[in-house]
Amino acid sequence: MNNSDQLKHNVAKEAVKYVKDGMKLGLGSGSTMYFFMKELGERVSNGLKVIGIPTSNKTAEWAKEFNVPLADFSQIQELDLAIDGADEVDPNLQLIKGGGGALLREKVVAAAAKEFLVIADESKVVENLGKFPLPIEVIPFGWEVTANKITALGCELALRKVNDQIYITDNGNYILDCKFGRIQDPEKLNRELQSIVGIVENGLFINIASKVLISNPEQVKVMEK
Ligand code: A5P
Repeated sequence: MNNSDQLKHNVAKEAVKYVKDGMKLGLGSGSTMYFFMKELGERVSNGLKVIGIPTSNKTAEWAKEFNVPLADFSQIQELDLAIDGADEVDPNLQLIKGGGGALLREKVVAAAAKEFLVIADESKVVENLGKFPLPIEVIPFGWEVTANKITALGCELALRKVNDQIYITDNGNYILDCKFGRIQDPEKLNRELQSIVGIVENGLFINIASKVLISNPEQVKVMEK
């Protein structure tokens, strides 16, 4: 395991301690979550009873691989705890998410949870959000118009592509990766983005995280408000 994976694994091991028997879980996406799913699977094989709603098809695959039972929102509407990674975390626990393209389901799941626990390594901690381009999920119809409106807020953006093909989210939408540079007021930007027609969701997670676990080579630290 390389150093970066070791940090992800360490924080995942710590996060799994927050999971209690009988909990209904939100299961985030991304490479840090892979380690969490593996750890959770081990606890399930030792008798832990949980059920989880995955935020991406990839996480659903991992749940299958590690025998973590899944549900959907037709069965459960309130979750005890959602766990997820992040692309950036600021000192106020505001986040940028969506590097893996799953931000919409991640936000729906986080909003349905009583507690939202974020797991990341120290490279994700920033003084100000915005170095990581903000992912924004838009509907394909008229995305060019939506993109112009976002650009007018002061960013340079790119339509996400993978191997020269437009990236399509699990919800059938596009992602615009928006370079705002240093975001002075994330709450204000979030509100402005929410008012633009054609945007389904943006990757700013404002006042959603309850706690953030951050791993460095020595330890796992807890960030709380
Ligand atoms: C997925 O859409 C993202 O929000 C991830 O949670 C985020 O990109 C963190 O991913 P890593 O754990 O792979 O860094």
